[in-house]
Amino acid sequence: MATQDKTLENTQLKDIVSHAKEYGFVFPSSEIYDGMQAVYDYGQMGVELKNNIKQLWWKCMTQLNQNVVGLDAAIFMHPLTWKASGHIDSFNDPMIDNKDSKKRYRADVLIEEKAARLENEGNKEACDALLAEMGRLLEAEDLDGVRELIIREDIKCPVSGTTNWTEVRQFNLMFSTQVGSVAEDTSTIYLRPETAQGIFVNFLNVQKTGRMKVPFGIAQIGKAFRNEIVARQFIFRMREFEQMEMQFFVRPGTEMEWYNKWKETRKVWHEAIGIPAAKLRYHDHEKLAHYANAAVDIEYQFPFGFKEIEGIHSRTDFDLTQHQELSKKKQQYFDNDLNEEGKPYGNYIPYVIETSAGADRLFLMTLCNAYQEEEITEGDAVKTRTFLKFHPALAPVKAAILPLTKKDGLPEKATEIFNDLKFDFNMIYEERDSIGKRYTRQDLIGTPFCIAVDHQTLEDNTVTVRDRDSREQVRMPISELRTYIDKAVNFRSILEKLA
Ligand code: GAP
Repeated sequence: MATQDKTLENTQLKDIVSHAKEYGFVFPSSEIYDGMQAVYDYGQMGVELKNNIKQLWWKCMTQLNQNVVGLDAAIFMHPLTWKASGHIDSFNDPMIDNKDSKKRYRADVLIEEKAARLENEGNKEACDALLAEMGRLLEAEDLDGVRELIIREDIKCPVSGTTNWTEVRQFNLMFSTQVGSVAEDTSTIYLRPETAQGIFVNFLNVQKTGRMKVPFGIAQIGKAFRNEIVARQFIFRMREFEQMEMQFFVRPGTEMEWYNKWKETRKVWHEAIGIPAAKLRYHDHEKLAHYANAAVDIEYQFPFGFKEIEGIHSRTDFDLTQHQELSKKKQQYFDNDLNEEGKPYGNYIPYVIETSAGADRLFLMTLCNAYQEEEITEGDAVKTRTFLKFHPALAPVKAAILPLTKKDGLPEKATEIFNDLKFDFNMIYEERDSIGKRYTRQDLIGTPFCIAVDHQTLEDNTVTVRDRDSREQVRMPISELRTYIDKAVNFRSILEKLA
């Protein structure tokens, strides 16, 4: 049974990956040179979907929260930043190689996969015990112990099927390069592995210039880079990816209250964009990162299992304290309110709650969730219809304008409608092929509305609007189109749920 399920899961992911390529969502990077592992490009549909996800996140953070403002920091940062953050010393993954297949794996992922198999077989107790044991060994940095655990659990290489493992070694995940043109004058800098540090080093700039009062947050969207050794599952784990992070600065001692608030707020966000609650879950970290005193992942049930899409971390005052130490610049906040309340201190380094989502993972989640296959009857034939059921606000194209024929003045009328609505919505005008084929093409890219212009349109200025999900058509005056489409595709419907 487990094998069958696995096959089904792989087939589904394979279908989604080829759909993404065929309809212009995601292409392998530099494909004409046979591509690059773990690097992908977003095509004409993909970039619209991804932009919509990012914009919605941005608006939710900065418009719905008076005390959250934005930032766009540089990718390159002073090298001491990464010393301070701990990335130079401890941003490592424990890797293990199989001597027969010569394939390299993350040791913790091999163990987690074994634990997931135990859970699927109904052996929750063994699953929890295995994860706890792994957490303990990693915490103690006992890499020999991790290897012994892999062997004891009889975890085999998926390629060679053997347990002929090397020792476990730590690999640093940061990409480095040289800055400066003269050899003796160069220094090593890093491509940022997280956007968060750009926020930390600007904490006082924003606080002072924006007259921000704790608690307040700084949000940022940007590229991050990690030399992921094991690149798998399409855009789930990439070497160049995008993060949407928000650091929320709070009074020491209030961090758990804010941690719980953001944990809840972020899960509700995913539900508001149409992800069923049953496909989302929290996963508390077994092993806390060096900077955290509490951490949880929000996981989505991908075709390949429940996996992390976003992390909520209580990062204490670790980062700001470290930056204060290495930069020798005070990173303290003077809390007037505390003084007024007669509390013992007014100057402190704030604690930080971080929400950290991967734009690419949210993209993959949205795509997987939208991908639908249903049996439909057309005349005497039963066929499978594939369509992408995106939330209309996230759909790359909002409406397609389709003249029924290429003559009798229908293209002119359709163009007139297109030219009027294009100021409000991203739309497509198409007159090639039968109307049925054109509906199918729009279903495949997830366009929520198809507007057909026919001979009746010329007589009474009405059109038919076909709904992507129900395939039902309603006739309505052209003058009502803008309001009708806007009601469905405007971010407002989502923002209102979250406000
Ligand atoms: N600042 C904290 C931080 O970076 P993380 O858990 O390492 O925490 C946060 O990353 C999010 O970034 C993850 O939940 C995931 O969505 C995304 N992410 C991390 N590594 C990624 C990768 N290699 N490819 C795509 N997304 C990734």
